[in-house]
Amino acid sequence: MPHHFLVTRAIPQEGIDFLAHHGKVTVNPHDRVLTPEELIDMGRPCNGWLTMLTDVISKPVIEQCTNLRGISNYAVGFNNIDIPTCTARGIGAANTPDVLTQATAELAWALILACCRRVVEADAAVRRGTWRGWAPLEFLGSGATGKTLGIVGAGRIGTHVAEMSRGFEMPVVYSGRRQNQPLEASLGAKYLNLPDLLAQADIISLHLPLTTDTHHLIGAPEFARMKPSAVLINTGRGPLIDETALVTALRQKQIAAAGLDVFEHEPRITPGLTDLPNVVLLPHIGSATVETRTRMAVIAAENLLAMVEGRPPAHPLNPQIYSHAGHTAA
Ligand code: DGY
Repeated sequence: MPHHFLVTRAIPQEGIDFLAHHGKVTVNPHDRVLTPEELIDMGRPCNGWLTMLTDVISKPVIEQCTNLRGISNYAVGFNNIDIPTCTARGIGAANTPDVLTQATAELAWALILACCRRVVEADAAVRRGTWRGWAPLEFLGSGATGKTLGIVGAGRIGTHVAEMSRGFEMPVVYSGRRQNQPLEASLGAKYLNLPDLLAQADIISLHLPLTTDTHHLIGAPEFARMKPSAVLINTGRGPLIDETALVTALRQKQIAAAGLDVFEHEPRITPGLTDLPNVVLLPHIGSATVETRTRMAVIAAENLLAMVEGRPPAHPLNPQIYSHAGHTAA
């Protein structure tokens, strides 16, 4: 069967061109997420899908699309795809790690500094015209230098955020499923359990994938452990935080501030968050640089081509399906 690719949202042209060189390409013509019905209608004739983190690739969706040989997610996170169902049906799945590590870590730092120095709140005062000139007690924030940085999930992105703290001379503590020896060697980072990290860190940055285990990892009991001066940053996935509990914690000054690039119910914002001055809210732009998104498009396209050709992609999420002898493209 000749290759037919569905790209579920317009992406940088380089990725589309790559696929067009190898088969027919259908790109979602709408500037919005496809509904499940549209996804199935457009995707059914295709053997490869290049999907977004906003597409819910569920078991019923997958089961209705019998031509499917590969799903290539345009993201490092893949909680939107039912990987076990893909595996059971011999459908490859892939993601785009590494390429967005630096961009996402930079954005985490943008949020850290914006929260510590109240950048967004201060900018808003200037725009509103309420600023009356320099004042000794206005917009006092807290410095980042010398503060303890707590990394929750020291994988690729978390490690990079920690490495970027060098200029700020911060003691680094981290938690996660396993110890990160290189991080300990390079920065003297200390491995802690989560409750101890929450109690000790001044700035807490979340870098875990969303799974059933990490859903609402940070809720009311965790806020109760944090310092009143703590700053919480989330560039991972929104549901890591119980946002209703976060609104309460920020409102009651249980913690000082939060910087969020991701939300529990994107694009809906939990009521109360936008009313608070001590939270910075960004529209999920962790990987949003021209360079990064362009590289992601090419990598996702390359991953997809490999899978529809029956080859393991460079970034497989279910590599086991390629170890079975006789796995070939349909
Ligand atoms: C991802 O790729 O998973 C990130 O959320 C993009 O910003």
